[in-house]
Amino acid sequence: MRLGIVIMAAGKGTRLKSKRAKVLHEIGGRTLVGHVIAAAAQVVPARDILVIVGHQAEAVKTAARESGVRFAEQKEQRGTGHAIQCAERETRGYEHLIVLSGDAPLLKSETMVALRDFHLREQAAMTILTAEPENPLGYGRVVRKSPGKPEVAAIVEQKALTPAQGELREINSGIYAFQRKPLYEHIGQLRATNAHKELYLTDMAGILAKAGERVVALEAAQAVEVLGANTIAEMMELDGAMRLQKARALMAEGVSIFQPETVRIDAGVEVGPDTVIEPFVQLLGATRVGSECRIRSYAVLENTTLGDRVEILHSCVIEDAAIEKGARLGPMAHLRPGCHIGENVHIGNFVEAKKTRMGAGSKANHLTYLGDAQVGSGTNIGAGTITCNYDGVSKYPTVIGDRVFVGSDSALVAPLAIGDGAYIGAGSVITDDVPADALALGRARQVNKAHWAKNRRAQQESRKKGSTKK
Ligand code: UD1
Ligand code: CA
Repeated sequence: MRLGIVIMAAGKGTRLKSKRAKVLHEIGGRTLVGHVIAAAAQVVPARDILVIVGHQAEAVKTAARESGVRFAEQKEQRGTGHAIQCAERETRGYEHLIVLSGDAPLLKSETMVALRDFHLREQAAMTILTAEPENPLGYGRVVRKSPGKPEVAAIVEQKALTPAQGELREINSGIYAFQRKPLYEHIGQLRATNAHKELYLTDMAGILAKAGERVVALEAAQAVEVLGANTIAEMMELDGAMRLQKARALMAEGVSIFQPETVRIDAGVEVGPDTVIEPFVQLLGATRVGSECRIRSYAVLENTTLGDRVEILHSCVIEDAAIEKGARLGPMAHLRPGCHIGENVHIGNFVEAKKTRMGAGSKANHLTYLGDAQVGSGTNIGAGTITCNYDGVSKYPTVIGDRVFVGSDSALVAPLAIGDGAYIGAGSVITDDVPADALALGRARQVNKAHWAKNRRAQQESRKKGSTKK
């Protein structure tokens, strides 16, 4: 049996009121169509997936190309039925087709498999995946030949419902399985005699049933999976549902997530067991978290790898970083892209780092900027240290050895190298390389003027007396 999957993704999504094509909107850190493709690719190889593009076709293709799917073009968007007409040539090699909507991103591959198996077992020409969501408003309704039986007489769109049909709670998910031959034998009968003057794929149910073909319905086990997104508000609801699914999946793998409805964890994120995630954490992109880590509230991690037992305290913002086991960051640390933080390193509050490497056990605990810096191991960067890596034109590196002690409030003017074991006196401006084990002082020597303050006070007092006498 040759099975192909067709994803309808040509529509504009007028109800979104957005410049961007609907299927390119993102939820759960991925485009809508990206989610649908990822699930479909677990059922058939990518080359057996055909994405129908139309509105912003090039952008949709660019977004989907990497997955290896094929494309068909629907130049004018004349409805879902017309979209499937546009796929006739490209689907020639298949006996059966699963048809998906590019705007129903929660559908799981298991449900597609269930639909396929039911469709084949029922030997149907068309099988409609249905659901009974809490609010059926806006969806097409499925009219079964008799209640509880699989046979379907027709699908009626929301706007065409008779008052009696308005009572029907079973909705059309827009997800179907077709036997290809009867589909294309009869698809020419579609007419645009409806509220939108479009060719509705839903009308194939009535057309095929009238032609004596078998049309059946399968109710999805999870109604939430088939929900579509036609408005921004609906999309954000799906985003919430998807993130809750993701959080639950991680919890099933031994991750503790407090108030999971508040966290934002993208679909591709991995987290090891015994890690604790506090409320309002965001783990985005290709972030991978080890086991026994603790990520405290308001931390935002993007494309970042954490080893085991890493502690990220409140409100850290970390992007494109690798952090090794036992490190502790924050609260309120900011790692811009390209940082590599070694084992057991401590990065404290109000420390910003960019393209910086910190060797094992080094510390930068307070109020510091490290840019383009390479720090060895066991080194202490004092409070308020600044690497001056930019001269207004170019960026320069600062190389700091092992077991170095950088005193507080030092300005390290790059390019600069500080040898192993060196000391930098607090408040220094260091412009020249410092040899290993040396003490570098780059500041004015302190001068103490004996009795100066006392004498000044006395002077002020006598001046005051002189002026009141007048
Ligand atoms: C459709 C169904 C409705 C069902 C609902 C489920 C029809 C007529 N109605 O309505 O019964 O309850 O889905 O979510 O099919 N598309 C194209 N080309 C077009 C038009 C649409 O590719 O010319 C694509 C869209 O990009 C979208 C999908 O088809 O991904 C569904 O289209 P949409 O306009 O959202 O249909 P609904 O009104 O939601
Ligand atoms: Ca829709």
